Amino acid sequence: MTQTQQVQTLVVDDEKNVTDLLKLQLEEVGFWVDIANDGAVAINKVQGKKYDVILLDLKMPRINGIEVLKFAKENYPDSQVLILTGYGDIKTAVDTIKMGAFDFITKPYNFEELLVSVKNALDMKRLMVDNKVMKMQLQNGRFEIVGQSPALQSVLEVALKVAASDASVMITGPSGSGKELIAHLIHENSDRAAKPFVAVNCASIPDTLIESELFGHEKGAFTDAHALKQGLAEIADSGTLFLDEVGDISYLVQPKLLRFIETGTFRRVGGTAEMSVDVRIVSATNKDLEHEVEEQKFREDLLYRLNVVHVEVPALNHRREDIPLLVTHFLEKKSKSRRVKSISPDAMRMLEYYDWPGNVRELENVIERAAILTNGEEIRPDSIALTSKVKSADLRRIPTRLSLAELERIHIENVLKANAFNRSKSAQALGISLKTLYLKIKHYGIETPAFKG
Ligand SMILES: Nc1ncnc2c1ncn2[C@@H]1O[C@H](COP(=O)(O)OP(=O)(O)OP(=O)(O)O)[C@@H](O)[C@H]1O
Ligand SMILES: [Mg+2]
Repeated sequence: MTQTQQVQTLVVDDEKNVTDLLKLQLEEVGFWVDIANDGAVAINKVQGKKYDVILLDLKMPRINGIEVLKFAKENYPDSQVLILTGYGDIKTAVDTIKMGAFDFITKPYNFEELLVSVKNALDMKRLMVDNKVMKMQLQNGRFEIVGQSPALQSVLEVALKVAASDASVMITGPSGSGKELIAHLIHENSDRAAKPFVAVNCASIPDTLIESELFGHEKGAFTDAHALKQGLAEIADSGTLFLDEVGDISYLVQPKLLRFIETGTFRRVGGTAEMSVDVRIVSATNKDLEHEVEEQKFREDLLYRLNVVHVEVPALNHRREDIPLLVTHFLEKKSKSRRVKSISPDAMRMLEYYDWPGNVRELENVIERAAILTNGEEIRPDSIALTSKVKSADLRRIPTRLSLAELERIHIENVLKANAFNRSKSAQALGISLKTLYLKIKHYGIETPAFKG
């Protein structure tokens, strides 16, 4: 087991024989144990590392257990504190519960009972952290990646290969192409899967707040800082920190982010203590960060750190083979009542030909809307609303599995549209006679508005 997976424990007692024995016993059951033999040392240790559990003696010379408890609860609310106390101090011990201690254990302790208490405390901690993380996951929705195009498959291959490592991954690609989904995929296939996946949208947080969002702030650090706040870096400890739209992060905060990535340490805004966490960084952007570096808007050293492995998600119009699969997927997902079950071939063709400037997200929205507008069980072209025009002559992007006849039909349709259904002009553009065009329109059943020209 690695150090990060072990339960991090701090045992604080001025009696060295107590700390030494507890260390032995706890290590035997697989915990990672640090020792402090007085309150001042304990506070120092707590500042340097995040403990899951602190076993804390109350009566100690210099700084007593109460002070350590106060400090720990104010600064590291996620650490669970268990009080070790003599029989004579039970009243004080009860008071410590009100101050945030999880439980107290009387000395001489029974190790089995102590262990039960520690495990309960750990469950509580997990619940608290899971709650925070769950809220974030709910906002993100659930994730399933659909698509069989070679372009997408090779992206997935790289993502799965790097998932197991701790390397920083930079995901690029146009808006709505699935960058966040890939970030989830990496997390879920890593050793950190059971730990938090915490997403920070760097574009939606004002420059002035980004540092405190990431690294937290001390009470009173600035006007609105009424209480201590943990940063997302801290919440993501032992998991994955997803820096979304990282290209938008303020130039002033970039050096701090760089330092954090290099050392794993940071300070809360307004704080002096050096905190350290273990997070894996995955970032995403739809900006060309090399260009941003040239423009001096993004630090080159930071880009270099973030971009250890690069994953580029292709635009949807570069993997049109995925469109039918995605359509089926979204039909199942979006048509709640499952009333709308299918899509007509000509409607599907429209979707396969469209340019998808908004990529998969746009496709998802189009299907959702179409499912609502459709009266029967089948989506037809008239319930599909595309925002920009279907590109007509971009033959390089036509799916290769189309037959020549289908291709001809689509081309004729496009030319007709491009010429506002003027048949003479269209025939001319197609290099065929008006009569041939007329026959083909009939043959393919192309719908045209009332006869023009
Ligand atoms: N391959 C896919 N299979 C299924 N759903 C997908 C796929 N790719 C994207 N989606 C869906 O499309 C939407 C947009 O994806 P996502 O948020 O990951 O894109 P993004 O690249 O992060 O976009 P942006 O740059 O705008 O942040 C999401 O609802 C996502 O679930
Ligand atoms: Mg995104």
